[in-house]
Amino acid sequence: MAPGTLGEILDPVSGFLDTLGEILDTVSEDLDPVGGGWTRVPWPTVAGVHELIEGRWSARGYDATAEISVDDLTSVLDAGRWAPTWGRVQPVRFVVGRRADDTFAGLTETLTRGNAGWAPASAALILVCTAAEPDDEKARTYAAVDVGLAVSQMILQANSIGFNAHPMAGFDAEKAVRRFAIPEDRRPLVLLGLGAVAAPEQVASDIRERDERPRTRLPLDEVAFADTWGHPFTSSPHP
Ligand SMILES: Cc1cc2nc3c(=O)[nH]c(=O)nc-3n(C[C@H](O)[C@H](O)[C@H](O)COP(=O)(O)O)c2cc1C
Repeated sequence: MAPGTLGEILDPVSGFLDTLGEILDTVSEDLDPVGGGWTRVPWPTVAGVHELIEGRWSARGYDATAEISVDDLTSVLDAGRWAPTWGRVQPVRFVVGRRADDTFAGLTETLTRGNAGWAPASAALILVCTAAEPDDEKARTYAAVDVGLAVSQMILQANSIGFNAHPMAGFDAEKAVRRFAIPEDRRPLVLLGLGAVAAPEQVASDIRERDERPRTRLPLDEVAFADTWGHPFTSSPHP
């Protein structure tokens, strides 16, 4: 058989390379659900979950130079203010610091454990406090539920304007009480870091390693029940 032209010989090779490129593009998109070059295993949600919820994650690799404007930060606080509140009590209060201001410096001094390593790169820190309610168990419980709802709304609002938000229990609440003269009828519960996710190559390797770990959750079958406890909602007959 006569040898073909160079073009004829290379044609199938270039077709193969195109296909390979398409496959690699798909794989790398799958491994980059947070964008910006991060290598992350995708975390699947069922169809129909809102992209803000689907895209949320607690990052640690923040860009220590990124700033948040007062308007953007105010929008996050207002999202928290408008969270549902048990009995319309509105027990939640915020202590708010932007990087480089005194409040931010005071909040970073309360960070404990591993948080002291990454959270100072936040663009803002928000200490979320609630009513102490030492003598009323019900009020105390729902004062904490209100915090959870406020934090959740703030996280999603932050995500919607391009910031990551990471809740923390790892801070010294007593130190915060002293530093900010928090009154006896309030208690700090959560410290929320808001930050811009840095390019992966700018992040310390230990933080990057943690941020690239797969995110997992129990399967829905193990957390959502119908008929009787433990019987998965998803396998129940639905009219
Ligand atoms: C009440 C609460 C306290 C948390 N405290 C910390 C903390 O101190 N430090 C930290 O790095 N992450 C903290 N987290 C974040 C969790 O580690 C994180 O949500 C969990 O690993 C799941 O990851 P994901 O948010 O990306 O889904 C906290 C989360 C919650 C809800």
